[in-house]
Amino acid sequence: SGAPVSFRLNGVERTIDVPAETRLSEILRDLLSLTASKVACGVGRCGACSVLMNERPVNACLVMAWQLEDADIVSPEGLDILPETRIVRQALSAENAFQCGYCAPGFVTVLVSLLRNDPDAEMSQIKAALEGNICRCTGYHSILRGAQAAAE
Ligand code: FES
Repeated sequence: SGAPVSFRLNGVERTIDVPAETRLSEILRDLLSLTASKVACGVGRCGACSVLMNERPVNACLVMAWQLEDADIVSPEGLDILPETRIVRQALSAENAFQCGYCAPGFVTVLVSLLRNDPDAEMSQIKAALEGNICRCTGYHSILRGAQAAAE
């Protein structure tokens, strides 16, 4: 077991007391019922669990409770208030980018982060940003088209 950790989650200060090796993906989904971020591979290879940690995308399945002290975490639920999120979601849905949609929150999280840093991101930057996100349904053309439209 561990010591309590305090961090900010979607703008709200939280203190939780869980074993130090508890994964952020479990904290969000199981402890706090924030289920927008998904878990598919569980080992950092698919991006379904993407959240922002100190304004950068990370795989929540690889972040342990002990690493959260003083961190600023934004889960997909917390992205709703950002204008970039609406732009990204609209552009992706206009391209019918997703089929089952399980991977979508991870893609949206990474793309919102990219566009906040660089609203005019080029395709090469979009591809680099999405390198860690896997989609098993539609393939990537429609996702990349949507992402490019969001950056225009
Ligand atoms: Fe975390 Fe796949 S579930 S990267």
